[in-house]
Amino acid sequence: MSIAEQKLELIREQVQAHLDQAEAAQLSPAREAELIEQIKQRLVAENAVIVAHYYTSPVVQALAEETGGCVSDSLEMARFGHDHPAQTLIVAGVKFMGETAKILTPDKRVLMPTLEATCSLDIGCPADEFAAFCDQHPDREVVVYANTSAAVKARADWVVTSSIALEVAEHLADQDKKIIWAPDRHLGDYVQRETGADILMWDGACIVHEEFKARGVADMKKVYPDAAVLVHPESPRSVLELADAVGSTTQIIRAATEMPNKRFIVATDQGIFYKLQQSAPDKEFIIAPTAGNGATCRSCANCPWMAMNDLERLALTFDAGDNEIFVDPATAERAMVPLRRMLDFAADLRLQVKGNA
Ligand code: 13P
Ligand code: SF4
Repeated sequence: MSIAEQKLELIREQVQAHLDQAEAAQLSPAREAELIEQIKQRLVAENAVIVAHYYTSPVVQALAEETGGCVSDSLEMARFGHDHPAQTLIVAGVKFMGETAKILTPDKRVLMPTLEATCSLDIGCPADEFAAFCDQHPDREVVVYANTSAAVKARADWVVTSSIALEVAEHLADQDKKIIWAPDRHLGDYVQRETGADILMWDGACIVHEEFKARGVADMKKVYPDAAVLVHPESPRSVLELADAVGSTTQIIRAATEMPNKRFIVATDQGIFYKLQQSAPDKEFIIAPTAGNGATCRSCANCPWMAMNDLERLALTFDAGDNEIFVDPATAERAMVPLRRMLDFAADLRLQVKGNA
């Protein structure tokens, strides 16, 4: 087995362990209500707010909304945490989201239900190996996806999320800049095809989105010919080719509300169904297949690390003592540069869109 295969196998074993744990942690309705009440009281007492990703469980998303927090994509999570007056941010997502919040708001306390909630893209892009790769190509602008560690961001010229990956690449291509793209090769491949940018790719992938299968989606389309296919760009090219709309989590929700179709096949984490259903209650959403007969997927459209943000852990967040996010100040200062660049770029884009409306 090659080193890459060994690494992947290790990740898969961890994924299985997390999924088994999650399955064993089913709560009774009474326990769930008790935990929700406890969390609400602590949020008020601690001047804290929940910043949750669309991939967390419906109960966590509902709680975030009910208590004045936000449920959003990774770009909006960063913005919300920065702008909200609460002194403590409870980031219900994966570690890079907590780190991003800390870098942008160093004076706030940033807690997470567990710091074990990571991401296969982050794992697959160690900072030292990535820095050595970049050093070999000093003529290239370094663009990294938000799903990376603070140390990897610190080595970058730009950070992007899937919401603005295309626009940033286009902006750089217009200036004839050559790009290093990391870590997601599927997103990078999509961006390359859409913008024609000169991209040198890091070889990383999301273990959740990589499982979607074009064959399965095509078969499903035969059963539901009226359904539109919505795909997150971390999915393989063959799946993107079947998409009626490709986009970040927020863009997928927008497409579902704006497109005339009544039925959608959705290729992203199932957590998004909570918001999809809330935003378009009269429409039907079906998860895209992660495999045909004899499926071997273990993550099955369910990010195991996002699933670690359960109510039990959320209730312990204030007292656990080992779950506060700290980022080395020098690393944070360097990472702040590409992050700020992304947020400013996104703000300019919004202004342009408003101006053109
Ligand atoms: P978004 O930036 O679309 O929220 O995606 C984050 C992510 O982890 C997708 O797998
Ligand atoms: Fe990372 Fe994939 Fe999970 Fe998103 S869904 S956090 S990219 S492992």
